[in-house]
Amino acid sequence: MRLVKSFGINRFSTFIHHVSVLLLLYNIYLTLKLLKANSSIKTDCIKENSNTSFFHLTLSTGRWDSRRMVKTYDNVILADQKQSGMVCLATQCSVDRLTSIVELANNWNGPISTAIYVAGEELYYIQDYIRFLRRCYQSVRQTVTFHLALPANKFPQSSQSGFETDQLSCHQDPSVVLSNLMKQLPESLRRWKIRMPYPQNHLRNLARLNCQTHYSLVTDIDIIPSINSAVLLNNFLSERPKCLKCVYVLPTYEVHKSAIPPKNVTELTKLKSAGLARYFHMEVFKLNQMPTNFVMFEKSSKKHEGLHISHKVPKYQLYYEPFYVSLNNVPSYDERFIGYGYTRNSQVYEMFAAKYQFEVLANIFTFQHNFASQKKKSNYREMQYAENLALFTKFKKEIAARYLLSHYL
Ligand SMILES: *[C@@H]1O[C@H](CO)[C@@H](O)[C@H](O)[C@H]1NC(C)=O
Ligand SMILES: *[C@@H]1O[C@H](CO)[C@@H](O)[C@H](O)[C@H]1NC(C)=O
Repeated sequence: MRLVKSFGINRFSTFIHHVSVLLLLYNIYLTLKLLKANSSIKTDCIKENSNTSFFHLTLSTGRWDSRRMVKTYDNVILADQKQSGMVCLATQCSVDRLTSIVELANNWNGPISTAIYVAGEELYYIQDYIRFLRRCYQSVRQTVTFHLALPANKFPQSSQSGFETDQLSCHQDPSVVLSNLMKQLPESLRRWKIRMPYPQNHLRNLARLNCQTHYSLVTDIDIIPSINSAVLLNNFLSERPKCLKCVYVLPTYEVHKSAIPPKNVTELTKLKSAGLARYFHMEVFKLNQMPTNFVMFEKSSKKHEGLHISHKVPKYQLYYEPFYVSLNNVPSYDERFIGYGYTRNSQVYEMFAAKYQFEVLANIFTFQHNFASQKKKSNYREMQYAENLALFTKFKKEIAARYLLSHYL
């Protein structure tokens, strides 16, 4: 009886043993299966990512310009903050110059509308770069909205992005991150870029017309506004009586690369005395800024605190090209001008014909973080200049006819 009983228990425990081994094996099987499922979810994800666009962009839509040379796409990335206030900064660049947006967004401290010219495979890398900027720079994420202009003759094949920068540390220098991405561009595209005529005026119109505020300041990407410009301009503009034909000039300087960016006009003039700042284009093209009258600007900034009007620009001079804040009723940038030469100053020419009054502001300014030097222009640039000069001559006659000018400069 005892024997039988113990035999019975033995049989029972062997059975339990077998069952638990089976359960263990089943458990291992389930775990492996789960792991496998997990990893396949992961690879699916990567596959999907690498075939996904980070931008809100459908290449087959978009808006052509009148000559079907450039196709534009609005709002491919929206700023996290809704545009508010009186004034938006409208800026533009080619892919390789986008780095300046970091300093720009920090200083401006308000909405920014950025148009980028993107050719071929650049579309792939620029998405990675903007992903990096948005992840690492709060001001870019909150204030910058991006638009694209794509050339018909180097139209991207696909809108997918690479997600290559996702593992990068935010301590990386943003200009190094960009140049590393650019190194991966095919050689043929890099060669094409050297001679491509850059459609500056298309980009300026694209950036400005996407500003949701009443006023905008149109600049090039390397033109940095002084600290808190948007906030100061907001206060100034909201207190101004309405003036449909007034525009406000922010004087532009060149600040040497080695100098700490000036925080106010006092610091700027100190840099100037030390030879580390000078008037914009003083070396390369003096006529470009002359009517602004920097001496009066500096005096008025010193004499009275706060943002105010320093003086009016008394008279137009040919080739004047200030950066200014205006309503959107100003003439658009003529998109027949492509490449270098007469792109902005044809627009300013029309502004004077249309009798806009330029007023120079005090205690606010813009600067380029670099001394412009007289380099020998490439042959391609020389050709673009020559073509645009011929067009400018024609343009001036058209303007004289349209605005009934008795003579033109
Ligand atoms: C991306 O999509 C294309 C076309 O649908 C396909 O041929 C290609 O294999 C996909 N690439 C990846 C990495 O999934
Ligand atoms: C300009 O900035 C410097 C340094 O931040 C400061 O000491 C100075 O008071 C400022 N000047 C004016 C006029 O705001």
